[in-house]
Amino acid sequence: MADEQTITLRANGPYMVQGPVKLMDADGQEYTLENEIYMLCRCGESSNKPFCDGSHREAGFQAESEAR
Ligand code: FES
Repeated sequence: MADEQTITLRANGPYMVQGPVKLMDADGQEYTLENEIYMLCRCGESSNKPFCDGSHREAGFQAESEAR
C-alpha cells in the first residue's frame, strides 16, 4: 500500500478513504480498522455510522462528486 492517503467521493455514495489514516471518534478513541480502504457515509442513512452500509442506494442519495 502506498504511503499516500486519498479520499475519493463515490458517485452518489460514500467517501472512500485509502491509505494509512487514523479514524477517531468524538472522544478521541481510535476505530479499529481491518484494512486501509474503507467507506464513510455521507448520506446520513447508514445504520453503521460512520461507515457506509449501502443504505444510500435505497435512500436515493444524490450529490455532486466532481471536482471543479
Ligand atoms: S453513503 Fe452509503 S449509507 Fe450513507
